[in-house]
Amino acid sequence: MERLQKVLAEAGIASRRKCEDIITAGRVQVNGEVVTTLGVKVNPQEDEIKVDGRAINQQQKIYVLLNKPKGVITSATDPGGRKVVTDFLPGIKERVYPVGRLDYDTEGLLLLTNDGEFAHLLTHPKHHVPRTYQATVKGVPHGTLLEKLRTGVQLEDGMTSPAEVEYADVNPEKNESIIEITIYEGRNRQVRRMFDSISFPVIRLKRIKFGPIFLTGVPRGKYRHLSVSEIKELRDAALSTHKVQKGQ
Ligand code: URA
Repeated sequence: MERLQKVLAEAGIASRRKCEDIITAGRVQVNGEVVTTLGVKVNPQEDEIKVDGRAINQQQKIYVLLNKPKGVITSATDPGGRKVVTDFLPGIKERVYPVGRLDYDTEGLLLLTNDGEFAHLLTHPKHHVPRTYQATVKGVPHGTLLEKLRTGVQLEDGMTSPAEVEYADVNPEKNESIIEITIYEGRNRQVRRMFDSISFPVIRLKRIKFGPIFLTGVPRGKYRHLSVSEIKELRDAALSTHKVQKGQ
């Protein structure tokens, strides 16, 4: 059983706070009865919930993949007026929210959806959905340093779990290298902090893969809808990866 306002928010009706107003305004029915008090608990699978006479499970679920440019906030709104990821979704009327976050300066693959259960499944730490990044650093870190990143480095919030780390490219003219790293956790600024810990700060960071889904083919600042089979593959990845994570 879950609180009605949470169920409404997760169905993409509005923010949880606004859903409370919608309830107290008498616009919500549960199994044919108008509910105006907050705190009522419902079973989203069994109860018939309507807003303004329309069943909430009739809300279309939508799943998109955005190639987020750098210099954009992973949020639906910004009080400071800066660019936010939803500015890059013209034509999407549903209220979608990001599946996890990318830093302001990180670019690449970001999923957005109005399916709260799906977002929760993919971002829950116990599911260890792999995320792959291309990290550009100045110079060429020695192989022993990459090995450290692979086995785990100490960050202020604890050791990192095993990761896959490979050189992807070295540009001798610019004295830069691109390192591909796959992590199975989603801690705040994790990749940047991992590279800081070996004294090779990241100068550019791009996510190129999330679970089984690649960024390939989506230009920067553009989006595409996920296919039904991709949505299924993502769900399957979330439900299976914790069993196959290295070292577990
Ligand atoms: N790790 C980071 O450091 N930043 C991101 O945006 C994502 C992962």
